[in-house]
Amino acid sequence: MKTQVGIIGGGPSGLLLSQLLHVQGIETVLLEKHKREYVLGRIRAGVLEHGFVDLMREADCAERMDAEGEIHDGFELYDAREKAGGIVIHNALKVQPHDLKSDAPYLTYELDGEAQRVDCEFIIGADGYHGVSRQSIPKDILKEYERVYPFGWLGVLSETKPVSPELIYAKHQRGFALCSLRSQVLSRYYIQVPLSDKVEDWSDDMFWEELKQRLPDDVAANLITGPSIEKSIAPLRSFVAEPMRYGNLFLAGDSAHIVPPTGARGLNSAASDIQYLYHAFVDHYLNNDNAGLEGYSDKALARVWKAQRFSWWMTTLLHTFPENSDYDNKLQDTDLAYLFSSKSAMTSMAQNYVGLPY
Ligand code: PHB
Repeated sequence: MKTQVGIIGGGPSGLLLSQLLHVQGIETVLLEKHKREYVLGRIRAGVLEHGFVDLMREADCAERMDAEGEIHDGFELYDAREKAGGIVIHNALKVQPHDLKSDAPYLTYELDGEAQRVDCEFIIGADGYHGVSRQSIPKDILKEYERVYPFGWLGVLSETKPVSPELIYAKHQRGFALCSLRSQVLSRYYIQVPLSDKVEDWSDDMFWEELKQRLPDDVAANLITGPSIEKSIAPLRSFVAEPMRYGNLFLAGDSAHIVPPTGARGLNSAASDIQYLYHAFVDHYLNNDNAGLEGYSDKALARVWKAQRFSWWMTTLLHTFPENSDYDNKLQDTDLAYLFSSKSAMTSMAQNYVGLPY
């Protein structure tokens, strides 16, 4: 098989780029190792930036988002992708990129036990943190930056009316809490927990009790609880790999960077990579202009690092850090008091939260 852009990974980044390029008449082949049901069943992020919403419309994927979406609601990529008839190959196992420094890179994989090959002009690594793409860049070229936080988030999804139409981020001595939502009948709540906690340690009742303790009284009194339909613990981590380009391989999304969820930058940072790649490929294929591809890594990383800074700051502002000194805690309280008292500090926070310009 032959294509222009081979994409590894069928999550939001890979699907969105594939769809955007398809609309422009640029060929893609996307390899996804999991079954379609697995990808559809994964927990999604909840908050989309304006730029992301615009990209979904440009990709012709906005029908359901525009019809059913509320502020902070989720979205669907798969139906539109299939409608467009592009090539998405599920169950593609042992995906491996080759000859990345050449003009003729290619992908190999196994489908139903048979070896397959796709010849590409470019390869996109949108295969997440554990994917093969980043690992294909030589160690002496790749620089990785990481910060690990000493806690995780216990998250619960429940078929209950959300306690508030807007998200509530709460700082409490017992630990951080977040009230979020997917729709008017589907709520998403989180509490900070020690890394040593196991999800089995937390019954639904214990979760709701702890959440209520960390919320203001009037919010806690209005909280509607119910059985969890999903419950999991995610550790918090910040991570960036540089550069985001090696030869004709371009990294996008979690394969190159991870943020802690505070601030909702993860999916949105992936979308900004895709926006840059989309325009770079349109310029390359339709306008004979390679500047976008040449500048991709620097441009993407500049925005990635701003999202890193914001996510780190919001995490540091709102969580309880077990190793903090009294002095650290005073500074943390002062940071929050300053935010509440300063219009310019609030404006800066809002600017980052709704999404910096691409
Ligand atoms: C979510 O709804 O899952 C969510 C919202 C905001 C965050 C993190 C997660 O900052």
